Amino acid sequence: MKRTVLLTLALATGLLGSVTAAPIGYQTPDEVAAFKPGPNLDVVTNNCTACHSADYVNTQPPVKDRKAFWQAEVTKMIKVYGAPIDDADVGKIVDYLAATY
Ligand code: HEC
Repeated sequence: MKRTVLLTLALATGLLGSVTAAPIGYQTPDEVAAFKPGPNLDVVTNNCTACHSADYVNTQPPVKDRKAFWQAEVTKMIKVYGAPIDDADVGKIVDYLAATY
C-alpha cells in the first residue's frame, strides 16, 4: 500500500517536470529566395516578385540560348499569367536574366 502511494507520487512529479521544460529555440534558415546581384536588379525585383519567389528563376536548368529562353519566359509571364510589365522594361529584364542566370 505504502509502495503504491510512493510510486504514484514519483510519476506525478515526473509528469510535472516535463511540463515545465525549458523553451525551445529555433534557428530560421537564411533567406535564399532572392535575386542575385546584376544589372537592372531593381527592375527585376519590381516586376518579378509579385506572384512568386525568386526560386522560380533560381531553379531553372541551364540552357544553350539563355537570351531566347528568358525572352520566352518573360513573354509567358505577361501573355499567359497576365504580369503587368512595361514594354520598356522587358529588354532590361531579359538582359539581366541572360547575364545573371
Ligand atoms: C502575374 C503574376 C506573375 C508575375 C508578375 C511573374 N510571374 Fe513568373 N510565374 C507565374 C505563374 C502563375 C507561374 C507558374 C506557376 C506554376 O506553374 O506553379 C510562373 C512561373 C515562372 C517560372 C517557372 C517556369 C515556368 O515557365 O513556369 C519562371 C522562371 C518565372 N515564372 C519567371 C518570372 C520572371 C522572370 C518574372 C518577371 C519578369 C515573373 N516570373 C513574373 C506568375 C507570374
